[in-house]
Amino acid sequence: MAGLGDITGKTCLITGGASGLGALYAEAFLREGAKHVAILDIVEEKGKETAEQLNKTYPGKVTFIKCDVGDEYSISKSFNQVVDTVKQLDVVINNAGIFNDSPTIWRKSCDVNWQGLVSFSMRAVKHMRKDEGGAGGTIVNIASVAALRPTGCFPIYCGSKAAVLHFSQSLSQAPFEEETGIRVLTICLGPTDTAIMKNLAEKRYDKKFGDLLLNRITEDSLQKTEPAVAAFNTMFKHASNGSVWLSEDNQPVEDITPKIQTFYKSFAK
Ligand SMILES: NC(=O)c1ccc[n+]([C@@H]2O[C@H](COP(=O)([O-])OP(=O)(O)OC[C@H]3O[C@@H](n4cnc5c(N)ncnc54)[C@H](O)[C@@H]3O)[C@@H](O)[C@H]2O)c1
Repeated sequence: MAGLGDITGKTCLITGGASGLGALYAEAFLREGAKHVAILDIVEEKGKETAEQLNKTYPGKVTFIKCDVGDEYSISKSFNQVVDTVKQLDVVINNAGIFNDSPTIWRKSCDVNWQGLVSFSMRAVKHMRKDEGGAGGTIVNIASVAALRPTGCFPIYCGSKAAVLHFSQSLSQAPFEEETGIRVLTICLGPTDTAIMKNLAEKRYDKKFGDLLLNRITEDSLQKTEPAVAAFNTMFKHASNGSVWLSEDNQPVEDITPKIQTFYKSFAK
């Protein structure tokens, strides 16, 4: 393990950090003593507002940069801007996400949930890798229980989150950490009370499917954001490279790496 679970004095980039869980992860990192947090988001007004609010409590420690995680030029520009500001970037949280399989949005959601995450991860590896002069670091990829449970009415979102999980598992394989000094962590969240869970019925690819599931997802059934953020913090502090964590139903976070490894081993040659 790279021993980077202490955020004190570290610099961090969070995509989709203007609102929802990303903004709460930013706040949690600052509370724990982070040196600087760069919030990247497509929503400019809310992003500036969130940064301004956080800077009131943590003066000068937060910057907002407008970034479309589904656009390569925007990613390149904003990543370079963060590095220019902080010089050494220690943590990248790939959090931006869209949950929408509808015909006009699914391609954009794949760009954000999957391609954008790959792009930020690759840039982070290049910047952080110790074998090429970097200082090591941590990449956290936000997946979902959608990566673990096939869901007929949201096959595209499920596929993008399964891709996140498998990408992170593959990237973190030995000797990656020994060579680079970088941890790659994955967290799978269950349904949690944020904007992403609103109007799900409208976000299906076909209105014929999913009524049973949607009837089960009520406001009361959603996990609160507090346990999700606590899960994220616990994972960040204790997780080893390549581990996978589960946070759902307001329960303490579970390290599900052994279950994932059992699955992979069952197909090993
Ligand atoms: N809330 C849940 O139930 C849940 C469950 C599993 C996984 N997740 C994952 O957690 C992450 C955070 O979700 P959330 O619940 O906070 O949702 P949210 O909708 O509240 O926040 C998502 C953030 O991503 C930003 N974003 C959207 N498109 C973007 C783009 N093109 N470029 C940059 N930023 C963009 C939004 O502006 C927003 O600030 C997502 O990856 C989501 O898939 C959430």
